Amino acid sequence: MKIDLAFSPYELEKKDLQGKAVVVIDALRATSTMIVAFENGCSAFIPVLTVEEAKKLAADRRDLDLLLGGERRALPVEGFHLGNSPRDYRPEKVKGKVVIMTTTNGTQALIAARGAAEVFIGAFLNLSALSHRLIEAGRDVIIACAGEKGFFCLEDTVCGGAIVDRLEKDGAAISESDSAMAAKVLYEYFENDIYRMLLESEWGQYLESVGLGKDIRICARVDSSRLVPVYREGKIFLDR
Ligand code: MLT
Repeated sequence: MKIDLAFSPYELEKKDLQGKAVVVIDALRATSTMIVAFENGCSAFIPVLTVEEAKKLAADRRDLDLLLGGERRALPVEGFHLGNSPRDYRPEKVKGKVVIMTTTNGTQALIAARGAAEVFIGAFLNLSALSHRLIEAGRDVIIACAGEKGFFCLEDTVCGGAIVDRLEKDGAAISESDSAMAAKVLYEYFENDIYRMLLESEWGQYLESVGLGKDIRICARVDSSRLVPVYREGKIFLDR
């Protein structure tokens, strides 16, 4: 099994996704928030790139019980039902609901992953479950970091490295690209204190500064979920 890693959606777009399994990671916070939402009974997400697209889709599909969720500069979008904080996605709000979601980097990475054979949602929350699912899929893997505005970000890369590490420990016969190997080395540096790494990352500091620091603790809950949502035909959902 070959493991490659893209530091940003821009880089992912340059890669050949055919026949591959792609894991999309936005550790702070979009993919962590999605996993929490599924734990709380959410039925699906529809990722879209822009606020306008989200509003139009909600208006066109009034027949469905849709909610609008997402952020810009980490803050909820005016007129949306939910932000991008995992604390927003409580059972009483999201149980049985479909959320149209737009975030700055996370939904971009998802949309860039569309050409892959399988797309999985990853975060620190579901590392072990993800590793098992990838081994079961038996495909070459590309870890797609959402990054920050087209560039490298620490937290997604460390999370990508954690996936490489888990795959190795779970006995997968893997060969790593240079970027996957570099991510694993970064993970080994931070593995004993993922919370501190998230807190000290640039985006973690920004989240703190806008009063969203509590979300960082939630995103640092390594292996707190057994769920591995899939992105297929425009929707993110649990297929088992
Ligand atoms: C993103 O997609 O850029 C992030 O999830 C931003 C955030 O923390 O809200």
